[in-house]
Amino acid sequence: MSTRTQNALRTDGALWAAVDAEAAREERQLELIASENHASREVMAAMGSVLTNKYAEGYPGRRYYGGCEHVDVVEDLARERAKQLFEAPAANVQPHSGTQANMAAILALVGPGATILSLSLDHGGHLSHGHPKNFTGIYFKIESYGVEQASERIDMDRVRERALAVRPQILLAGASAYSRTLDFPAFASIARECGAKLLVDMAHIAGLVAAKVHPTPVGHADIVTMTTHKTLRGPRGGLVLSDAETMKKVNSALFPGVQGGPLMHVIAAKAVALREAQAPAFADYQRRVVENARALAAELGARGLRIVSGGTDNHLMLVDVSSTGLSGKQAEDALGQVDLTCNKNLIPYDQKPPMQASGIRLGTPAITTRGLGVAHMATLAGWIADVLAKPGDEAVTQRVRGEVAELARAFPIYPHGA
Ligand SMILES: Cc1ncc(COP(=O)(O)O)c(C=O)c1O
Repeated sequence: MSTRTQNALRTDGALWAAVDAEAAREERQLELIASENHASREVMAAMGSVLTNKYAEGYPGRRYYGGCEHVDVVEDLARERAKQLFEAPAANVQPHSGTQANMAAILALVGPGATILSLSLDHGGHLSHGHPKNFTGIYFKIESYGVEQASERIDMDRVRERALAVRPQILLAGASAYSRTLDFPAFASIARECGAKLLVDMAHIAGLVAAKVHPTPVGHADIVTMTTHKTLRGPRGGLVLSDAETMKKVNSALFPGVQGGPLMHVIAAKAVALREAQAPAFADYQRRVVENARALAAELGARGLRIVSGGTDNHLMLVDVSSTGLSGKQAEDALGQVDLTCNKNLIPYDQKPPMQASGIRLGTPAITTRGLGVAHMATLAGWIADVLAKPGDEAVTQRVRGEVAELARAFPIYPHGA
């Protein structure tokens, strides 16, 4: 659709003003939130297509509605590309979100009341792995493992001890704020030893896994879930992988179990993103994401900021900001003032409550998408350290905000418009 046609369709002034403001915000700010990225224009075009009009309850070839011949092609393309990319026997591309992918996976493996052993939320786990107010916490018995206090890493011997003590039906591996490589073969061997199913939620690292920059859980886990919008750089949504037999259970756990009609426009966008992820340029991008994260962690360390576990193997890091006298919340706010967007985060064994926290989580997927490289990481670390040393200082804030704006302008996200 041309920009002129798009503009002619814009009758809802208040709505489009907010959309335009968001586009301008994304261009102006450097996005350091580890779970966000900038999808391609083709991914966004698929989401804005006529496919949003179509009801397609069921799966390709077995729908409850007529007129599904074209959306069947779309869903088959997405499923085949997911299977190829992750070298998995079967895929379900319908989950509306990562949380719904996890719901379907868990309900495919066990019934309510089962015990799930997962990484605790305050050590980097996710809400959908057992938060008391999440469906997992409400309907399942949640046990947790954590990271060691000294190393701030998961120790697989300790996970094994916990698993043998609590005998879970599901051992869940995966995290939202863990910067080290996950040892999937070790998780699988522990699951086997205690008679549990292994569920791996690779939401954060899906892009890295696709590019073979992080070892794959496929072949080790009974079910693998992910989101499609983080490092994978697709539309917002979820995806599930497993063997063909298990997928039959996942399919019915998802629909009609926890979802109705699939979002066919989003599935089309997933297909676009999965094709993009097969290109050599994507693997190159993922390697740069990790190089940038390593460089940023090292530069922040050199500026006196403590990196949890001493560094990172993936796309994110946790920065302990206690030495600056700030809470994570104050650090997030101070960086927001200079257009560096990030989120406060608990660090392991944090003494502060979650809404204050002692750390911030920084990720490099979005800034790498817009083209920043290792050479920019020292500058970025310098800005972060300067701002956190003098939060709210007018001179520092103005200088850094100006320099951030200049760099952001030099690396537009959508050079030809969003
Ligand atoms: C590990 C992990 N799993 C699942 C999710 C949930 O994804 P969604 O927000 O799409 O439900 C997230 C999101 O942050 C995540 O980090």
